[in-house]
Amino acid sequence: MSLPDGFRYLPGYFDRQQQAALVEAVLEAVKTVPFYRPCMPRTGQPMSVTMTNFGPLGWVTDKDRGYRYEPAHPGTGAPWPDPPELLTDLWDSVAGYPAPFEACLVNYYRDTSRMGLHIDRDEEATNAAVVSVSLGDKARFRLGGPARKGKTHSLILSSGDVVVLGGEARRCYHGVDRIYPGTSTLVPDGGRLNLTMRRVTNP
Ligand code: SIN
Ligand code: FE2
Repeated sequence: MSLPDGFRYLPGYFDRQQQAALVEAVLEAVKTVPFYRPCMPRTGQPMSVTMTNFGPLGWVTDKDRGYRYEPAHPGTGAPWPDPPELLTDLWDSVAGYPAPFEACLVNYYRDTSRMGLHIDRDEEATNAAVVSVSLGDKARFRLGGPARKGKTHSLILSSGDVVVLGGEARRCYHGVDRIYPGTSTLVPDGGRLNLTMRRVTNP
């Protein structure tokens, strides 16, 4: 089986110093928009990752109102901070889209966190690629096709790697099976940060 068209893997895109600067930006952000534990729509089941965001919009979810984009943190009400320039530059270089991203979701994976197979489908701008950066511990990323039951590929993502889901891959199932605790010293206290940039509205 071949990988879906529009999937790009850019290993080692960011060097150690840039990775450290990105972690620093997250640690600065969480002073006003702390990591919070999102819950699934309807069931209220808590997710195993915690989250925050950069940008004019942030992806949030809770039991009552479900998946959506909001301009402010659900707990503190503070606006999501501006993204670091390393991320806007990354988007400009790899997204191939004529407008900036609006949301950068920050997922924080601890030892047993995972992300079930899903398609990103809460955006109007479905023709814009999703661009994501891995920081810290390695993770096993899984990429399938447009149907939940199809075949999947797995790929180990390391700190500094970038993944682009454009074209057909934009509408493909993907998730994170597991992380490999203790495989990086980048994130204080360990774990993995994933930064996912998305255009939400049609420009
Ligand atoms: C996601 O698709 O929401 C996260 C992907 C990742 O953590 O690499
Ligand atoms: Fe996703």
